[in-house]
Amino acid sequence: MDACMEATRLEEAGQSHLLRFWAELSAEERVEMTQDLRSMDFQEINGFFQRAMKESGREKQEKVDSRMEPVPRDMLGSVVSDRELLKAWEKEGLLHISQSKVAVLLLAGGQGTRLGVSYPKGMYDISLPSHKTLFQIQAERILRLQQLAEQEHKSRCSIPWYIMTSGRTMESTREFFSQHNYFGLNKENVVFFQQGMLPAMDCNGKIILEGKGKICMAPDGNGGLYKALGAEKIIDDMEQRGIGYIHVYCVDNVLVKVADPTFIGFCVQKGADCGAKVVEKTNPTEPVGVVCQVDRRSQVVEYSEITQATAEKRGADGQLVFHAGNVANHFFTLSFLKDVVNTNEPQLQHHIARKKIPFIDEHGQLIQPDNPNGIKMEKFVFDIFQFAKKFVVFEVLREDEFSPLKNADSQDGKDNPTTARQDVMSLYCRWILNAGGQFVDKSGNQVIPSPSLESATGETFQCEISPLVSYGGEGLEELVKGRKFKFHHPLIIDEKGNLELLKNGY
Ligand code: UTP
Repeated sequence: MDACMEATRLEEAGQSHLLRFWAELSAEERVEMTQDLRSMDFQEINGFFQRAMKESGREKQEKVDSRMEPVPRDMLGSVVSDRELLKAWEKEGLLHISQSKVAVLLLAGGQGTRLGVSYPKGMYDISLPSHKTLFQIQAERILRLQQLAEQEHKSRCSIPWYIMTSGRTMESTREFFSQHNYFGLNKENVVFFQQGMLPAMDCNGKIILEGKGKICMAPDGNGGLYKALGAEKIIDDMEQRGIGYIHVYCVDNVLVKVADPTFIGFCVQKGADCGAKVVEKTNPTEPVGVVCQVDRRSQVVEYSEITQATAEKRGADGQLVFHAGNVANHFFTLSFLKDVVNTNEPQLQHHIARKKIPFIDEHGQLIQPDNPNGIKMEKFVFDIFQFAKKFVVFEVLREDEFSPLKNADSQDGKDNPTTARQDVMSLYCRWILNAGGQFVDKSGNQVIPSPSLESATGETFQCEISPLVSYGGEGLEELVKGRKFKFHHPLIIDEKGNLELLKNGY
């Protein structure tokens, strides 16, 4: 090298094992390794590791129960208990969308290890009849919402879509969008940017090699967003476009209501700078963080940070006291995000994620560990709630808005492609019923499609409505009202509003 300088830096940082196989590397591998090493600040990385380990040890020991309070009622909105206000909030949201003041921001930099596919999760096809991918479903919801806002306010508008990827997902994500012609969106309004990466480390803070000349790098968590927003000049782009409000969400929620006008309108009317959607946590042991206050500051508390007694605590109405389950679906004003990026970001701590990380051992062998052997350091997107001046929470129904795709089908039967597909189809089914359509069995008797009906009859229920036709169940009456559909034949409403297989309807 110029290896000398890197060797000194590595030695000072206690990371000289990274050059253990230097003599065996080809000229090309040496160049790549040198580039990788040069781009890293080892002292900073060691500092992140030490702070994150310390914090993780503290979290394990110190439960936050005594400092925790549920979200106060005046910060809360709910699709159930505030039913009479929903229309007004939706109207307000649509107004801002029609003025092109609302952007959506997709967190798609994760590695999707549990799902176990080699490509970005957004490219996953959950086997709906149309075989649309998660990216396509989201793109079409954006297109439909733009149309709804335009119809309501008679003005052209756009909802820019910012897509955060990582070193591991950037190229294939871009290529996929380009191959699919941006799913009908204006290319100018789809902005890709890249989050940072950090090396994976063993439990003693030694950086892991995944090849003899290759450091194991992982994205720095979905809270890497805030650093990336500054570094990739996304805040500037938003300012130039006149964006005021941003809806941030995760790629894997198949029911996500992108730029949900009701949520946006609620947050704006409340004068909030930061908001979170939540769903009711029904089971105290469900491993989902709860949105609450700790020392009067809003934050998400993980199940592991509280005692079982607190997790199980119920109010007089029988509801869990800490029931506001976080679904990583957030509202931010641009000025709040700007403050975070310019001022608060360095204060955010990395969290420790213990993982099974394949590594090269001291003999140069690639080892696939059976148990977690190392850590990845991640910031979380919700870590900035504490900086909000006015934080609000919007409670929605899980069955309407939250079904994350995390696992492969073979695993524990939860949050997998099958549950995702069933959840989307049963939402569409409810839309048909609400719009006055009916489902009938082979004898013409009215039935309500459900998994138990499917197993009782041995028939499969399939229902899909193009997001280009309906964003949230609207516009279906003229297509289905008064009609009966055989539940055992697929009912598909395509992008032109045609009812495919209508011949099967009575
Ligand atoms: P998860 O924490 O579920 O991670 O991400 P994941 O990568 O999808 O899946 P596993 O844990 O490897 O199986 C929640 C959301 O945050 C995004 C993901 O893309 C997903 O939308 N994310 C996660 C990022 O954008 N960057 C990251 O560094 C991590």
